[in-house]
This record gives sequence, structure tokens and C-alpha cells, in this order.
Amino acid sequence: MAELTLPKNSTMSEGKTWPKPEGAKNIREFRIYRWSPDDDANPTIDTYHVDMDDCGPMVLDGLLYIKNKIDPTLTLRRSCREGICGSCAMNIDGTNTLACTKGMDEVNGTVKVYPLPHLPVVKDLVPDLTNFYAQHRSIEPWLKTTTPAPEKEWKQSHEDRQKLDGLYECILCACCSTSCPSYWWNGDRYLGPAVLLQAYRWLIDSRDESTGERLDDLEDPFRLYRCHTIMNCAQACPKGLNPAKAIAEVKKMMVERRV
Ligand code: SF4
Ligand code: SF4
Ligand code: FES
Repeated sequence: MAELTLPKNSTMSEGKTWPKPEGAKNIREFRIYRWSPDDDANPTIDTYHVDMDDCGPMVLDGLLYIKNKIDPTLTLRRSCREGICGSCAMNIDGTNTLACTKGMDEVNGTVKVYPLPHLPVVKDLVPDLTNFYAQHRSIEPWLKTTTPAPEKEWKQSHEDRQKLDGLYECILCACCSTSCPSYWWNGDRYLGPAVLLQAYRWLIDSRDESTGERLDDLEDPFRLYRCHTIMNCAQACPKGLNPAKAIAEVKKMMVERRV
């Protein structure tokens, strides 16, 4: 019989159960993914207990309670704590979302927290977004023009500005891309929903003068055409955006320029 060897750090085991806060009457249990590159050990799931009478209502509040009062080694990213910076994206209760806008009351029972799926882990809840950011850079996410710059500003009609609604709000949290099966398997070559939504944002900006060049760059069996309209991305987006629709619009632009 063939013997299979699992890759290093691919199995998970039960970790430490940390003591409950003394005297707490209203307790919430958290189970959190832990892995450190400094230990030569597999990941574990550690169990913590949060005193809800001494903690804010969001999952991020619970994580910061744990970090500040129980275990300072717990590692996570966060900044704005109001759904704007995108840095606290993680998998909570089986869904990719922002820890700062996810209420603990939206989770039944134990709060289970993992890093965003299918990305290398830097430590604990911090994923490695190097490839994601490189892909974003590759679509040249800035206004590209050939006509001389106006004295004051590039003007845009009210109607043209409205075309950016549903796109400009993207905070590049990566919740959508890391919930997309096509991105899981082809993330090295497929741009994924977040970056393609950004690509569309520049394609339809009335002030941009590089539309043809931008479409040429996306005309590739992998960069664009790995989207199979599974729609996980739209369900995952914590900002209520619809990357799948943006991708469909890009595909439509490809067809239209051929006729
Ligand atoms: S619709 Fe496309 S981008 Fe969105 S999850 Fe499905 S395959 Fe991925
Ligand atoms: S489309 Fe939504 S889920 Fe995807 S990166 Fe932007 S804000 Fe995050
Ligand atoms: S901390 Fe900025 S989006 Fe959550």
C-alpha cells in the first residue's frame, strides 16, 4: 500500500485551554488557530474565555481582550476597527469577514477564528498577502492618461462618477478572493475577484485613457477567465459588493471590442 506523507505543518491538533477570567459571570468561549514559524510544531487550536462584561461587542474586541489580558503572543492585524482598512479580515465561524464589524451576537456558541483560507500563514491569524498585493499592482490601479493634464483637475460628469459606485468602496480585504475556489487552486495565475473588481473600476473610469491596453492585459485564459460564476465572492464581501458582476462586465467589454 502506498504511504502518504502529509506536508509539514498541515495537521492541526488540540492546543492549550487557557484559564477562565477570575470572577467572570458572563463568559464567551473562543477557539483560535495558532501557528508560529518560530516553533517547529504543527498548528493548534487554543481555547480562551472572554469576560463579556469587560469586553466590547465585536469579535475584534474579543480578540483584543485575549491579546491584552490573557495571551499577548496571539498575533493578528487590525487598524481602523470600523471596516475601512481591511486589515482584520479573517475566517470567523466558517465565513471570511472583518473581525471589527462582525458582532459576537451574530455567532452561535463558540467563536471559531482562523486566518483567511488558502494563503500561506505568517503567524496565527496573519496571512501572507504578498501575491495578492502584487496582483493588484499588476493591473496598474491608477489613472492613466495620454492627453496633457488639465490645469486644475480631471473632470467627470455626475453620471460617469456614478458608474464607480459599488466599486470604489472596495477596501482590498481579500475576503472575496480567499473564498473563491478558482483562486484557491489557481491563485498564482488567476487574478481573483478583488483584483478583477479593481481592474473594472479603472476600465470604466471615464477619465482613464488606457482602456484598450488594460483589456489586452486581461485577455488571458488565466488572469480573467478562471471565474466560473460560483458567486462565493459576492456572498463573502463584508462591504456588500459584487465582484462576480464586475468580472462579467469585463468579459462583456472583451466581447464588445471584438465586434
Ligand atoms: S464568481 Fe468568479 S470570482 Fe466570484 S467566487 Fe465565483 S469563480 Fe470566484
Ligand atoms: S470586493 Fe469586498 S471582499 Fe473583495 S476585497 Fe473588496 S471589499 Fe473585500
Ligand atoms: S480593523 Fe480595519 S477593517 Fe477591521
